[in-house]
Amino acid sequence: MQAKTPSDSRTIMTDLVLPSETNPLNNLFGGELLARMDRAASIAARRHSRRIVVTASVNHVAFNRAVPLGSVVTVEAAVSRAFSTSMEVFIDVWMEDRFSGERTKANEAIYTFVAVDDTGIPTTVPKLNAETDLEKQRFAAALRRKQLSLVLAGKMKPKDATELRALFMEE
Ligand SMILES: CC(C)(COP(=O)(O)OP(=O)(O)OC[C@H]1O[C@@H](n2cnc3c(N)ncnc32)[C@H](O)[C@@H]1OP(=O)(O)O)[C@@H](O)C(=O)NCCC(=O)NCCS
Repeated sequence: MQAKTPSDSRTIMTDLVLPSETNPLNNLFGGELLARMDRAASIAARRHSRRIVVTASVNHVAFNRAVPLGSVVTVEAAVSRAFSTSMEVFIDVWMEDRFSGERTKANEAIYTFVAVDDTGIPTTVPKLNAETDLEKQRFAAALRRKQLSLVLAGKMKPKDATELRALFMEE
């Protein structure tokens, strides 16, 4: 299987925030943003694996900035690391200023997808080669995030999470 880069899976979805998608403060409802991120991330995982993919976990979400009604929101997703059958997908969310067009980072999230066959059995995916400095940073940190997610899900013993444990040993 030929290795791929994050650019091969990069998926960019731009859409408006409509009244039906807001909370009582007229900002984008968190669940709506989660759904948009899940959609973009699943397309990225599919582009990387060319398989059916399912969301295995949401490892991290930071709602750093509220996104007001009428905003133009861009969700950008790319595979940040591929393991055996699972892929970490990093999602950046941008807001566009109505007047200047300037983009500011609003939120980010990290999802894990698993490639499966037609019967839902996990199946292997191509490796990922990170290219830019940011892609390399995200690639390097992905293993400890996977271990943390597995520990929290009760699928890995903390003693086996060597990469994660090493983080707490650093000065
Ligand atoms: C995701 C799913 C396929 C994993 O099945 P499983 O029996 O746990 O399979 P495995 O133990 O072989 O794990 C498969 C991969 O997923 C990873 N994985 C499983 N749970 C994980 C979690 N909570 N966090 C991170 N990775 C996880 C495993 O580490 C493994 O990765 P690797 O092969 O790259 O090393 C299965 O749980 C499933 O189908 N869940 C429902 C998915 C779904 O419907 N999502 C939509 C939301 S409703």
